Amino acid sequence: MATTITQGLDVLYSREQIAERVKEIGAQISRDLKGEKLVMVGVLKGAAYFLSDLSRNIDLDATFDFVAVSSYGIGQRSSGAVKMIKDLDQSIEGKNVLIVEDILDTGLTLAYLRKLFLQQKPKSLRIATLLDKPSRRIEKIEADYVGFSIPNLFVIGYGMDYAERYRNLPDICIMAPGSSE
Ligand code: IMP
Ligand code: MG
Repeated sequence: MATTITQGLDVLYSREQIAERVKEIGAQISRDLKGEKLVMVGVLKGAAYFLSDLSRNIDLDATFDFVAVSSYGIGQRSSGAVKMIKDLDQSIEGKNVLIVEDILDTGLTLAYLRKLFLQQKPKSLRIATLLDKPSRRIEKIEADYVGFSIPNLFVIGYGMDYAERYRNLPDICIMAPGSSE
């Protein structure tokens, strides 16, 4: 189905490819944590769809929490500073925690969250990211589960935005430089 907002955009991963990969990651997490309880912590807003789909492919006794951080300002430029806007609702002490993120880019966001969460002494802390851009890394951090590793492209859709727009595209599309309209 070609919708108006996706017209002219190059699809990097289709909804079918995303669904298949999310299913595989869900199965892997279910195997790795078999018999354990899990707290899934989504990083708002970009990871909303990924957490929603991933959680339904995880066969474990799981709960959700959400945090919001600011790392990117308006548009494609990162400010470099990470700030917590919405903290966890529940303590993660002694729990198995899975941080669910849309993109691991410079690593500033996840390095910040990992440090903060480890101070709360969880039983385990893992990271699932739908996309990974290893070439952009500033902080030394890797995810335990990666949907797709991609080159240095700016992508939108399936939760990911450009200046808050395009999150609701069902596919992951490439935002060409200079094509902000
Ligand atoms: P990091 O702190 O640089 O790793 O950036 C993480 C955040 O930047 C991600 O959670 C995204 O919200 C945002 N981001 C990084 N690359 C992209 C992109 O290509 N499209 C949309 N958002 C992005
Ligand atoms: Mg994000």
